[in-house]
Amino acid sequence: MGKFYVTTPIYYVNDKPHIGHSYTTILADVLSRYHRIFGDEVYFLTGTDEHGQKVQKAAEHNGISPQQQCDATVPRYIELWKKLGITNDDFIRTTEARHKAVVRAILSDLHSRGLIYKADYKGRYCVPCERFFTDKDLDDRKLCPECGRPTDEIVESNYFFKMSQYQDWLIEHIGSHPKFIQPDFRRNETLGFLRKKLDDLCISRPRRRLSWGIELPFDPDYVCYVWFDALINYISAIGYTADAAKFAKWWPASYHLIGKDILTTHTVYWPIMLKAMNVDMPECIFAHGWWLSGSDKMSKSLGNAVNPMDMIDRYGVDPFRYFLMAEMVLGGDASFTEAAFITKYNSDLANDLGNLLSRVVKMIAKNRDSAIPAPGALAEDDKALVSACLSAAEQVRSAVEDMKLDKGIAAILAAVRHANRYFENSAPWKLAKGNDPGRLDTVLYCGAEALRIISGLLSPVMPGKMRELRKSLGMAPEEGLGMEELSKWGMLKPGTKIEDINSLFPRIEVKEKLVDKKHKDEPPADNLVTIDEFGKLKLRTAKVLSAEKVEGADKLLRLQIEIGSEKRQIVAGVAKFYTPEQMTGRTIVVVSNLKPAKIRGIESNGMLLAAKAGGDLKLITVEGEIPSGADVG
Ligand code: MSP
Repeated sequence: MGKFYVTTPIYYVNDKPHIGHSYTTILADVLSRYHRIFGDEVYFLTGTDEHGQKVQKAAEHNGISPQQQCDATVPRYIELWKKLGITNDDFIRTTEARHKAVVRAILSDLHSRGLIYKADYKGRYCVPCERFFTDKDLDDRKLCPECGRPTDEIVESNYFFKMSQYQDWLIEHIGSHPKFIQPDFRRNETLGFLRKKLDDLCISRPRRRLSWGIELPFDPDYVCYVWFDALINYISAIGYTADAAKFAKWWPASYHLIGKDILTTHTVYWPIMLKAMNVDMPECIFAHGWWLSGSDKMSKSLGNAVNPMDMIDRYGVDPFRYFLMAEMVLGGDASFTEAAFITKYNSDLANDLGNLLSRVVKMIAKNRDSAIPAPGALAEDDKALVSACLSAAEQVRSAVEDMKLDKGIAAILAAVRHANRYFENSAPWKLAKGNDPGRLDTVLYCGAEALRIISGLLSPVMPGKMRELRKSLGMAPEEGLGMEELSKWGMLKPGTKIEDINSLFPRIEVKEKLVDKKHKDEPPADNLVTIDEFGKLKLRTAKVLSAEKVEGADKLLRLQIEIGSEKRQIVAGVAKFYTPEQMTGRTIVVVSNLKPAKIRGIESNGMLLAAKAGGDLKLITVEGEIPSGADVG
C-alpha cells in the first residue's frame, strides 16, 4: 500500500467553470478512485486561485469587491464538483488564512536569506496571463508569447526572486529524473525553454497598481505576484510550516496535473521555489493537452466553449466523464463535439455495455427465477472469457500507472465486446430450450461474473452508473471494489438475487441539428447514411500476427490479428493477391464489430478493408506507424 497525492491547478475565479477545468478535475478524480481501488492512501487537492489582476478586473467589471467576486464564483466550482461526483479531500482557496500565512512565511524566509531582493524593473506585462516579459521574450509587435494578445509597458521598483542561480541545477534535475516532467515531449519543451538564460522572477506588484493580493511581510507597499502565491497552494494545503506530520505524510506530490499552457510556471518557477525552500521535488508534473471544439480552440469570444453543466443536464454525469476519459489520449489535444459524444455513447455504452447487462439480467430473470445460478466446469469459451476479464484488470492497472487511461478503458471495452460475443456464441436462449441446464447455468454465471469485474474496473470512471449496475447484480454499493477482488474469477455468490433495472444507458437519438451542416442541405437519398449510422461501424487498425492458406479454398487466408490488446481470427478473400508472408506483420484496417460468421466452417471475427478495381485488389493500410486498435474514421 502506497500513498498517492494528486493536485489539479487551482482555478481562476474571474469566470464560470468550463470544460478545461472539468477535465483536469475529473482526471484527478478518476486517478484517485483507481488508486483507492489499488489500496493506496489518497489525498486529492483542488481549489481556487483568487488573487491577482484578472480577478480584480473581473470584480471591477461586475461592480463588486474582489472578495465578493471570489465568494460569488467559488460556489459554482463547488457545485459543479459535487455534480460531477468529484471526491477531493480538500478544496483550498488562496484567500484563506491557512494559505496566506504559509505564503508570508515563505516570503519572509527567502527574503531573510537574501534570495529575494529589490530592484528596478522595466518590462512588459500580459494581464490575461498574469505574466511579465522582457524585450528579449517578445518580437517587434510586443505580443504576449503565451496568448498572442498585446502586452503593456511597465517601469517600476519591485522585488525579485533569485531564480536564475538555480538554472543549472534545474536542467540537471530534469535530466536525471525522466519522470519529473511528463509526457516526454513536454520535458523537451521545458529543456528548450531553459536553453535561454533564465531571469530572476519578479514576485511583487506595487499596491497602487494592484491591491488584490497577499501583502509582502517585509514591505506593505507591495503585494505578492499571483503565480508565486498560487503555486504554494500545493504545500500550504497539506500543512507546510503548520502541520509537520501531515506535510511529511503527503509530500512530495505524486502528480501535479496541469494543462499544457501552464507548463513553464509549473516546471520552472515551482521546482526552483521548492529548491530555494529546501523542499523535495514533486514526483511528476503531468501536462495534458487541450480540448478543442472540433478542430478549433475553444473560446468565449467564438462562443464554442462547451459548458459542462449543459452536457451533464442533457446526458448525465457518467457518460460525460466516460467520454472525456476515453477520448483524450493523455498528453495530446482532443476534440469535443456533441455528435462525437453521442456516437461514442451509443456504441460503447448503449450498444456494448448496456446491451450486455440487459441480456444477462433478462436471461437470469426469465430462466433462473432471478437468482444467479452456480456454474459447472468451465469449457474453453468460458475460460477465454475469464482471461479476457482478468487481462482487462491487469491492463487497467498498468494503464493507470503509465497515465494511459484511454488504453485502460479500451481494454475494459474489449472485455465487454468479448463477453457480448461469448453470449452470441453460447446462445443461452437456445440452451434454455435444450436439455443441458448445467451448461445454461455456467453461461449465465459467466456473463454475470464478467459484468462484476467489468463494472468494478469502470467504477472510477462512471461511479454512479456502475453502482446501479452492481446493484442489479445484487451487490452492495462498495462491495468488492478492491483490486484483489477484481483480479479474481468466481466471486459472485450463486443464489444472489439480481434485479432487472431499466435500460442503464438508453440510446440517444441524434437530433437533426447535430448533423454536419454540409449534409443538412443535401437532398435525402436512399443511399446516404447519417453520421450516427456510420458511427455504428467500428473501424480499427489491426496487426496481422500470422496468416495461412485455407485448405480447399484458393481465395481465402486465415489471419490471426491483434486489435489493441485483443487477439482475433478473421478469414479474408485475399489469397489471390497476397501470400501469407506478405500479410504477416502488416497493419491493416478492419471492421471490428461485424457479427461473427463462419466462412467454410472457419470462424471469422471481423472483416478487413481492401480496395478493388478491374480485377485487382489492394489492402487498405495506414501510412506510417500507428498501434493496432486505433480508431479509424
Ligand atoms: N490559476 C491558474 C493555475 C494556477 S495553479 C497553481 C490557471 N487557472 S485557469 O482557470 O485559467 O486554468 C486552469 C486549467 O484549465 C489550466 O490547466 C488550463 O490548461 C486548463 N484549460 C483551460 N482551457 C482548456 C481546454 N480547452 N482544454 C483543457 N484544459 C484547458 O491557469
